[in-house]
Amino acid sequence: MIMSILIKNIKKLVQVETKPIRFRAGKQMSELNCIENAFLFIEKGKIADFGKMTNLELQTLNFELSIDATGKMVFPCFCDSHTHLVYPASREIEYVDKIKGLSYEEIAKKGGGILNTANKMKETTVAELIDSAILRLEEIAKLGTGAVEIKSGYGLDTELEMKMLYAIRKLKEISPLTIKATFLGAHSIPLEYRGKQHEYVDLVINEMIPMVAAEELADYIDVFCDKGFFTVEDTERILMAGMKYGLRPKIHANELDYSGGIQVGVKYNALSVDHLEYTGDDEIEVLKNTETMPTILPGAAFFLGMPYAPARKMMDAGLPVAMASDFNPGSSPSGNMQLILSMASILYRLTPEEAINAVTLNSAYAMGVEEELGTIAVGKKANIFITKEIPSIEFMPYSFGSNKVETVILNGEII
Ligand code: NIG
Ligand code: FE
Repeated sequence: MIMSILIKNIKKLVQVETKPIRFRAGKQMSELNCIENAFLFIEKGKIADFGKMTNLELQTLNFELSIDATGKMVFPCFCDSHTHLVYPASREIEYVDKIKGLSYEEIAKKGGGILNTANKMKETTVAELIDSAILRLEEIAKLGTGAVEIKSGYGLDTELEMKMLYAIRKLKEISPLTIKATFLGAHSIPLEYRGKQHEYVDLVINEMIPMVAAEELADYIDVFCDKGFFTVEDTERILMAGMKYGLRPKIHANELDYSGGIQVGVKYNALSVDHLEYTGDDEIEVLKNTETMPTILPGAAFFLGMPYAPARKMMDAGLPVAMASDFNPGSSPSGNMQLILSMASILYRLTPEEAINAVTLNSAYAMGVEEELGTIAVGKKANIFITKEIPSIEFMPYSFGSNKVETVILNGEII
């Protein structure tokens, strides 16, 4: 195990933190501190020092490995604050229904979508879930992701939800990525509860939440608060129950309609409200001056052909915006955060600086890791990537679809 690494001749060290900051909002989102011709020193898994190359010559650092990054840039790893990457199988066949024009809700009504995955969950073992998720984690890490939130929600019954959360707990132990777990028992209404949805909500509240909490399997709690899924009233009941156990909400809101999900999320001090395709003036007003991070999931909107959330309007109103992949088999079968960075600029018109803030610092906040990740700061975890030789930071969103990441370091070790 290498204990210390010196990266030198860095063309640009990106997203350097000068004073502690939790997230950037509104106009601040165009601020991005960088150091040209820089060095970065990593020791014992943490960022130990950084600065101009000229300052490096003045000091004596003891390093075991030296990397010459001439022509290359160094970024903090992406934080992917919203995924469902533990799942039994892909759903490319159902995707053909989408191509033919069926909506997300129509597919859900046919028992497809989330319920399709929930059915497969019954015959999948924890070990199988872990094995397939590890491959996805390796893939996203190589593309530059250093932290990821993973949700349950494909069990929709107590035992199966627990199975997913056990898998996530194991992934936390064995993966070099920083992982947060979210309990999403209220992801869809199982067929046998159709017409008596409140009984399923009772099950989530009376059986699932206490068991999840007793074994400390979740960091956060989520509800899909949207048209055809869970109502504002269901959501309030579930969030109240979760809060009794200290589970802070991170919710799916306003993807399919003006569902009231944003309002209920803010009311219960959600860490984030996610999706946000249907965000109007009222929703923006409610989000102002709160601790709730509005999080847009470009992959899902792109894949489902949804209207795009009004990111610019939100930022003009002074709100912060985070972006995440929503990696899942139904609505966003990619966890590539380089692509999300490109989509932030191409589809939502974020400048490269704004987009980089959305997928590093702000998304770190949206999963509660902004004190340890999301920027280059002394004492933070050494989760960084070195790019290939690239001409500018603008090239990162511009060059969509190609991999710009050459070397990834997680916890101070090259992966
Ligand atoms: O975030 N919107 C709800 N849930 C997921 C989709 C999950 C699935 O279709 O499997 C999402 O898009
Ligand atoms: Fe999601």
